[in-house]
Amino acid sequence: MADKKPKIRVIETRDGMRMPALGIGTWRMGERAGQKKDEIAAIRLAIDLGVTLIDTAEMYADAETVVGEAIKGRRDGLFIVSKVLPSNASRKGTIQAAERSLKKLGIECMDLYLLHWEGSYPLEETLEAFESLRAAGKIKHHGVSNFDTRAMADAEGLNAGKKIASNQVMYNLGRRGIERNLLPWCQKHKVAVMAYSPLDQGSLQSTGALASVARRHNVAPETIAIAWTMRDPWVASIPKASNPDHVRANVAAAGIELTPEDLAELDRGYPPPKRDVPLDIV
Ligand SMILES: NC(=O)c1ccc[n+]([C@@H]2O[C@H](COP(=O)([O-])OP(=O)(O)OC[C@H]3O[C@@H](n4cnc5c(N)ncnc54)[C@H](OP(=O)(O)O)[C@@H]3O)[C@@H](O)[C@H]2O)c1
Repeated sequence: MADKKPKIRVIETRDGMRMPALGIGTWRMGERAGQKKDEIAAIRLAIDLGVTLIDTAEMYADAETVVGEAIKGRRDGLFIVSKVLPSNASRKGTIQAAERSLKKLGIECMDLYLLHWEGSYPLEETLEAFESLRAAGKIKHHGVSNFDTRAMADAEGLNAGKKIASNQVMYNLGRRGIERNLLPWCQKHKVAVMAYSPLDQGSLQSTGALASVARRHNVAPETIAIAWTMRDPWVASIPKASNPDHVRANVAAAGIELTPEDLAELDRGYPPPKRDVPLDIV
C-alpha cells in the first residue's frame, strides 16, 4: 500500500521566510560508516513522504555529507538548514564555515543558516557575516539556536537581529519551559520556533496520557508527541529518525489534529512549569 502524504503546514515569518512545520533532523547521522546507507535511505523516504525541511549542522560529524548524498539530483523544493559552530562564528569564520557546509551538502545556497548557540564572538559580527552570505546568494535566511528570551531581546537591538527568522530550541512534552516567555516573544515578533529533540532524544515515555491519546487516534505515541509540538502555528518540529518505520510515524504527525480533550489530557500528564525555568539545552 502506498504511504500517505499528509499536507505539511507552512510558517511564514517576518522576513518572508516560508518554512515547513515538519522536517527531519540529522544529529547522530554520519557518525558510523556502516549506517550511512540507512541514513541516506531514511532522508530519501522522508522526502518521498512529502518532507522538505532537512536540519543539519557542521557540528554533526559527517551528517552534512549524508544529507548531500540523500538530496543529490532532487534539491528543488527542499528547505535545507545548517548551523555554524560558535567557535567559528567570527565575521570571516562564519563565511568559511558556510562555504564548507555548502560544499558538503552539494548545494549553492542554504534556505536557513543558524548560529548554533551563543559564543564568544560578538553576535553583531556573526550577523554581518550572515548578511554578506545573503548578499552573495549563499543563504536565503538566517537565525539562531538555543537563544533564550534575553538573548533574543538583545539580538533584536541589532539591525540584522531584526531579520532573525527562526530560533531553534529544545521543546517537547517533558520540557515546556519556552511556553512561559520565549514562545510568546517569538509569536509576537513573527519568528519561527524550531522544536528540536521533540521526542526528547527518544527518551520520552510513551505511556500514560501520550499512550491514551495515541490510542484514540490509532497512531504511535511518538506521532502524537510530534503533533503536539506542532500544535502552535509558530512551531516547526524536526524529529530525527534513521529507521524507516520511525520516519513514517513521524511524518504522520502532520496529519494529526489534536482535540481540546487530547490537549487537556496531555496537559495533565505533562504539565507545563509553574515558574520560569532556564532554557532546556541538550
Ligand atoms: N540546535 C541544537 O542545538 C540541536 C540540538 C539537538 C538536536 N537538534 C536537531 O533536532 C533534531 C532532533 O532532535 P534529536 O535528534 O536530539 O532527538 P529526537 O528527534 O527527539 O529523537 C531522535 C531519537 O528518537 C528515535 N525516534 C525517532 N522517531 C521515532 C519513533 N517514531 N518512534 C520511536 N523512536 C523514534 C530516533 O531513532 P532512529 O534514529 O533509530 O530512528 C533517535 O534515537 C536533531 O537530529 C538535530 O537536527 C538541534
